[in-house]
Amino acid sequence: MRVTIFGSGYVGLVTGACLADAGNQVVCVDIDGAKIERLSRGEVPIHEPGLDELINRNREAGRLEFTTDAVKAIEHGLFQLISVGTPSAEDGSADLGHVLAVARTIATHMSRYCIVITKSTVPVGTADKVHAEIERTLASRGAKVEFDVVSNPEFLKEGAAIGDFMKPDRVVIGTDNPRTTELMRALYEPFIRNHDRLIVMDIRSSELTKYAANAMLATKISFMNELANIAERVGADIEKVRIGIGSDPRIGYAFIYPGAGYGGSCLPKDVTALVRSADEAGHDPQILRAVQAVNTRQKEVLFHKIQRHFGPKLEGLTLAMWGLAFKPHTDDMREAPSRTLIDLLLKAGARVKAYDPVAAAEAQRIYAGESAFTVARNAYQAAEGADALAIVTEWQEFRSPDFERLRELLKAPVIFDGRNLYDPAMVSRFGLTYYAIGRGKRLAV
Ligand SMILES: NC(=O)c1ccc[n+]([C@@H]2O[C@H](COP(=O)([O-])OP(=O)(O)OC[C@H]3O[C@@H](n4cnc5c(N)ncnc54)[C@H](O)[C@@H]3O)[C@@H](O)[C@H]2O)c1
Repeated sequence: MRVTIFGSGYVGLVTGACLADAGNQVVCVDIDGAKIERLSRGEVPIHEPGLDELINRNREAGRLEFTTDAVKAIEHGLFQLISVGTPSAEDGSADLGHVLAVARTIATHMSRYCIVITKSTVPVGTADKVHAEIERTLASRGAKVEFDVVSNPEFLKEGAAIGDFMKPDRVVIGTDNPRTTELMRALYEPFIRNHDRLIVMDIRSSELTKYAANAMLATKISFMNELANIAERVGADIEKVRIGIGSDPRIGYAFIYPGAGYGGSCLPKDVTALVRSADEAGHDPQILRAVQAVNTRQKEVLFHKIQRHFGPKLEGLTLAMWGLAFKPHTDDMREAPSRTLIDLLLKAGARVKAYDPVAAAEAQRIYAGESAFTVARNAYQAAEGADALAIVTEWQEFRSPDFERLRELLKAPVIFDGRNLYDPAMVSRFGLTYYAIGRGKRLAV
């Protein structure tokens, strides 16, 4: 099948590579010329496990092409997927500027039937707006071309995106037309062979399903962080509580890890956009507001622990930081908890020496010109001569460090662990002071 994908970011590239790998002819379009040039040379601009190999294999097989030429790309596809960014506008709503610009571009050049698919995360009513935009543009050209608009939200997780796309839990299709259901089923057939995972519903419910999923995940995280803060004050250990409640199948173990707050390109902006949609619809979304407020506070928890240990003034201190990406296996630092901590530390006069297995280049881009922020080549180099260590991302390589070496390298020596990676009693046996999240006062030696 012929597929055109607008937006060559995390979603567009993974979708394009996976659809090409199933034998489809895929053209990926982006307005970022430098990005397309790199992709056409075989360079993948983001870190996503397995993506380089998948893209290049399919590019070399002639099934996957990258271009800035929207006219040629629109001519190509029966399916026109929109997977451009929907960042937060100033008022918190999802900025649909890119999505509607793509709709106009498609309508300006389309000459035969196509299915326009909104894969970007978009508020309820967006498919209607895309439909209206295409109709308006076609009318202004005096053209009559048939088309359908389908909602097909994406649920992939950065860091495990290829597996998620190749073996999805579900494929949600929002449509009001049986013809598109069959075409969408044919597109996804290779990925749902083992049993039918296509969930077909009306367009508005499909659009809301994506926000509901992310809001639920954010709620689980904020709930556990709330509990962690209570545990810490009443002398309980949240890690024991986590296991105690996760064993209940109605609750489950997934996504109930306390930590330094949620970040990334999706949960923060999607919860904010849902709050905004609710407000516009005349409903006060109290749970969602609390989820946001708890998360904003949680991102500052490590900083407050550092201040409680060293005193309010941090001038002259150097903090080693392990982890910059918002989660492991990605270089994405959008809204990452590390950024809140770095900003607060720098503002308080401290220096930061950070290490991340893949996000170093992204951090250097974000903090270019900030002399108090440096990036180390490895975890121990970051710790060398630093006063204390803060852990912000739970990369596998941080899970079993050489604590003796750390004690020698760190001046203080203190660890502020925002991901509860270690057994507090074990760390203290090595002579390190250890602060974790939600692990009662008596444990925080
Ligand atoms: N990143 C994720 O994990 C994830 C998961 C599920 C859903 N989503 C949603 O998918 C959408 C895309 O997210 P992303 O992380 O891939 O974004 P991204 O920022 O990584 O990529 C977006 C791309 O779109 C391009 N673009 C912008 N306007 C364009 C236009 N008019 N024509 C062609 N290309 C254009 C940009 O240059 C950029 O390369 C968002 O709505 C996001 O919420 C993201």
